[in-house]
Order: sequence, then structure tokens, then C-alpha cells
Amino acid sequence: MSDLVRIGLVGVGTIAETHLQVLAEQPWVALEFTVDPKHTESPVFRGTKPPHYGDLAHALEAHQPDLIVIATPTGTHADLTVQALALSSARVLVEKPLVHDLASLARLRSLDGSADVRGRVFTAHHFAFSPEVRWASDQLAGHSEWGPITGITSAFYDPYIIQGEQAFASYISSWMDTGVNQLSMLARFVDLTALTSAQQTDGGASAWYTCEYRSRDAVGTARLRSSWLTGSSSKETTLVFGHSGVEVWIDHTAMTGFAAQDGRLLAAYGSDGRTPRKVAHYRPLYESLLSGRPDPVLSFDTATTITELHLATPPPHDGV
Ligand SMILES: NC(=O)c1ccc[n+]([C@@H]2O[C@H](COP(=O)([O-])OP(=O)(O)OC[C@H]3O[C@@H](n4cnc5c(N)ncnc54)[C@H](O)[C@@H]3O)[C@@H](O)[C@H]2O)c1
Repeated sequence: MSDLVRIGLVGVGTIAETHLQVLAEQPWVALEFTVDPKHTESPVFRGTKPPHYGDLAHALEAHQPDLIVIATPTGTHADLTVQALALSSARVLVEKPLVHDLASLARLRSLDGSADVRGRVFTAHHFAFSPEVRWASDQLAGHSEWGPITGITSAFYDPYIIQGEQAFASYISSWMDTGVNQLSMLARFVDLTALTSAQQTDGGASAWYTCEYRSRDAVGTARLRSSWLTGSSSKETTLVFGHSGVEVWIDHTAMTGFAAQDGRLLAAYGSDGRTPRKVAHYRPLYESLLSGRPDPVLSFDTATTITELHLATPPPHDGV
């Protein structure tokens, strides 16, 4: 990327606030324009309001950004990504999940020859950058004596049910929204190989999925629970190392973690409490993306692997 990175932000809803907060910290970033049909003007960015448009095509008639950030409802990501690729030469950072169905993934892949999709499209798998996840990943790398991860349980709760239809309009379902966070986070620890069961309940507001993985020479099952039926956000993951008796427990809400072996505390992680959770995800994500050597977890290839798992139909005999 050039020294000054000119950014076009598409969608100025909830998560766009975090993007803008983190981007405003980066002196080499300029917000070139925003797009959102529901708003008549851009939010304030460093004390000014950049040009605002009702649709991306009009914005790209007047601007040539280096990076287009798509932070719109999940069902719109594929169309907007295709438009961004066709009407600009910019890189594109798409909010997770990259797409909402496998046909859209195939459509993007088919453009690779003409639009360099693999070189230009990145997905904001932000949970992989959360500090407790990076801490746990470092612990694993430093303790081969713990052996393979023999079991994983991850439970993510978001208080979205109170938003009613708006939650489904923006995020489609609990699994669509959260499953991609759980899978991209677990990719830091294991090689995910297959979705083995899928169950959605509460009209899509809750989910119970299982996913097979490889860890060193072992095969294990990750149990993934998510639900919007809750009064507050709560997200936790436990990694069990059955051969050594070690357990790593990470709390994604508090951004804390610890490792224990039987009754003994082996290691612990906390923070000074000053960095809000979403900023703690997106700050390192943008640093990586804009570094010129983006973390592979942001890449189109990783998004393809995760999407194929996320949106897979498990074999019926393995279903719950
Ligand atoms: N809210 C979160 O905490 C969060 C966190 C990480 C990722 N995400 C992802 O970000 C995406 C957006 O989530 P959100 O919570 O900000 O949703 P939101 O509904 O609050 O905001 C989406 C915005 O996009 C606008 N929009 C809709 N269609 C558009 C179009 N064609 N062009 C331009 N703007 C358009 C809407 O008017 C709205 O202002 C989703 O895919 C979600 O999975 C959300």
C-alpha cells in the first residue's frame, strides 16, 4: 500500500464505529468517503465529515481508494465485494463472515483470474486477534510437553434477541454470526477438518455444532454453542490437553485466561483494563492488514477454508 492509505467505508452501523475509532489512531490513514443509504452524511472522523454517498458505485465514480472496508449486513457482503472489485483497484476488507452462502463463495472464486481476488480480498476475522487468543496460542507454541488438544468447548452468547428482526436482518442467525468467530479463533490452535453435526434452534437464534480437528497427531471434536437468548454478552473457550492433564480456559468477554494442570496454576493472562474489547481486536487486525504482510488468517484462502466449514452440511448420520 502507498504511504497514505485512502479508505472508503461502506456501511456506518454498529461495527463501523470500532473501525473508525481504530483507523483514526493511524496517522497514515485518510478516510476518503463513507457509504450508507440509511444516512445522509458521514460520521465525524478526526473532526471532519468526509464525502458521503448512498451507494458504493456512485462513491467509486468520484474516488479511487486504496482500501474499501465493507461493514454492512452479512447478506450484502458478496454483492458489495464484487462491486468493489469491478469498479476499483482497491484492496477490500470485508466484515466476517465473508459470504452468507457457498454460491457466493464460488462466485468470488470465479473472479480470481480477472480481479485478483486472492490478492485483494481480506476478511475481518477479528476474534483471531483477541489478546487472550494470542496469549493462549503463544502458550501452546511454548509448551509442546502439554501434548495434543484432545477436547474443545466454546460457548458464545450475545444479547441480540432483544433486537428482534433487526438482529436477523444484520446477522442472519446465531451460527452465521458466531460460528465464523469460533472457527477463525480455533484456527489459531488446531487444524479444523470437518463439520460433523449441526443443530439450530430458537428460530436460528441458538446453535449447537460440532467440528472435527487435528492437533499434532490426535483427532478431536470441538463443541460449539452459541445463542442470542441471554441478557448479556458472555464468550468462553476451554482447551483440554487430556494426555498431560493441562486445561487452558480463555474468557473472550473479559479477555483473560489461565492454564492449569490438576490443582496447579501454570500461567495466567489479564490486562490493564484500558482497551475496550472490540478495539483490542481491530487494532492488531488493522496493524497486520496495513503492515504489507497481512496475517494469513485475514486472507481469502483462509476465508475459503473457514467458509466451507462454516456453511457445510454435515453428513446426516453425524447429525444430532
Ligand atoms: N456488531 C458487531 O459487534 C460486529 C462485530 C464484528 C463483525 N460484525 C459484522 O459486521 C457486519 C455489520 O454489522 P453491524 O452490527 O455493524 O450491522 P448494522 O446493521 O448495525 O450496520 C450495517 C449498516 O450497513 C448499512 N447498509 C446496508 N446495506 C448497505 C449497502 N448496500 N451499502 C452501504 N451500506 C449499507 C446499513 O444501513 C447499516 O447502517 C455484519 O456482517 C456483522 O457480522 C459486527
